[in-house]
Amino acid sequence: MVRWRDEVPTSGGVDLPPDARSMDGLGRNHSLDTALADLVDNSVDAEATDILIRIVRSAGRLRSLYVVDNGFGIAPEAIDDAMTLGGRRKYRTGDLGRFGIGLKAASFSQARSLTLLSRDQRGRVVGRRWELSPQQSGFLCGVVPEHFAAGELDREWNLPQGAGRTVVRWDEVTGFPATDDPARVEEYISRTLVQIRQHLGLVMHRLLAAHRMRIWVEVEEAETGECGSRFGVSPLDPFGYTRTGKSGWPKTLVGRAEGLTLSMRCHIWPGRSQLPEFNLPGGADFRQGLYFYRNDRLLHAGGWEGIHASDRRLRLARVEIDIEDDTIGLFKMNPEKSKVSIGPKFAYLCEEAQAEDKTTLADYLQVAETVFRDSKKRTMQRRRMIPPGRGLAPPLKKAIKREIPLLEDEEPINIRWAAFADESFFLVDRDNRTLWLNERYRATLLGGRRGGLNDMPVLKALLYIIMEDLFQGEYLGSKDKDNLEIWQELLTVAAQGEKS
Ligand SMILES: Nc1ncnc2c1ncn2[C@@H]1O[C@H](COP(=O)(O)OP(=O)(O)OP(=O)(O)O)[C@@H](O)[C@H]1O
Ligand SMILES: [Mg+2]
Repeated sequence: MVRWRDEVPTSGGVDLPPDARSMDGLGRNHSLDTALADLVDNSVDAEATDILIRIVRSAGRLRSLYVVDNGFGIAPEAIDDAMTLGGRRKYRTGDLGRFGIGLKAASFSQARSLTLLSRDQRGRVVGRRWELSPQQSGFLCGVVPEHFAAGELDREWNLPQGAGRTVVRWDEVTGFPATDDPARVEEYISRTLVQIRQHLGLVMHRLLAAHRMRIWVEVEEAETGECGSRFGVSPLDPFGYTRTGKSGWPKTLVGRAEGLTLSMRCHIWPGRSQLPEFNLPGGADFRQGLYFYRNDRLLHAGGWEGIHASDRRLRLARVEIDIEDDTIGLFKMNPEKSKVSIGPKFAYLCEEAQAEDKTTLADYLQVAETVFRDSKKRTMQRRRMIPPGRGLAPPLKKAIKREIPLLEDEEPINIRWAAFADESFFLVDRDNRTLWLNERYRATLLGGRRGGLNDMPVLKALLYIIMEDLFQGEYLGSKDKDNLEIWQELLTVAAQGEKS
């Protein structure tokens, strides 16, 4: 019997550099938007203030994609390291880079060719090009002639002058539609630009909100050199509610064990929010759970990662966690920087974690569920109202629909202006389902602003709230009639007061 031995011996060695085709297998977890986020990371590390993503269309087809920035650029002596797989540099604290593979993996997940061109702070120009081709076996990286590199760097990018400039160019982008059918290309462009802006707005929201940089997207027509509209990326903050779902929250829960500390900021969204910050891409139900940030860049947006099961009733619960670098046993980010996996110690620290008032994670989930249930119950128990009709602005109508169960069979109530023979402020016209307002007060109340069908939303919302039930039922009761008299008297006096 040959017994197990601790050491495995070798005698001599053979040099086995990786086959260049291994590049083809890189970044398989990327999609176009996560790949672009990786390039944006590099621009942020280069202290760019402006980053432009431009897609080029030629003869109807989408051909290339550029990411251009005005950061400090790459020195000629550093560019080979930059193009090397795993070529790491000295990272500063706060840098987003870490593995030395982002640029390559992101690019080859989306394109067959990667060109990197840069002008450094001293004005020196340099360029390299990697191409994936079935014939290629070695790791021979192309040197781009300086005049071509300079030409690309000096194209009209319309970016503010920065310390330097870097252009990343992708050709043969695999995800681009293989057609010049204008309808399909247009459809792809509009869908893709929205996706890119949403994803970058989300993962970069803290950096964008802190004005670290601006990000733009546009499409260039190669034949004319002209670009369509340039769209900016706005921050999309997954914790950007206008008021908390429960007073006293968010709370910070801290768990400590074996020299490790885990700090979790537990938020509760208000029920029924329609904000894009709540309805993130993918849908709010799938965005509950953990959000990991590293150096203010969001790496992971939702999911409980095994510490709890996803549940519709927990859709208001989002937990903000800042991590530094991988901590063994606690968490690990994937090289695509699109996901954080948690280790066994994470679950343990979650169990231990407490807020100053002793709130635990279990308590938090309970509260989040209660807030969700109460908000649902409250809506169900609310008095049903007649839907709003003409005269109220669409956002107001939407809010009413969200907050109040409506009598869908009833004809809606309009709030409109009309010329009155007398001074009264309003007229309840049950036959025409309209609350008329006296035109003679309109200009004064507008105070110089322009009127329109949906003008004065605050006034109309108030009138809808107090008068809606006058339109319900067959007759007006005596209490209703009395109220009408009081409101008419008070509002008319008030409106005349505004006029004088
Ligand atoms: N836009 C840019 N401006 C300046 N330097 C850049 C730019 N893009 C890439 N580089 C240089 O190229 C190097 C390699 O980039 P790459 O994304 O492959 O790795 P990384 O950023 O170091 O690490 P990670 O794999 O975590 O992204 C960077 O470290 C940086 O020095
Ligand atoms: Mg990088």
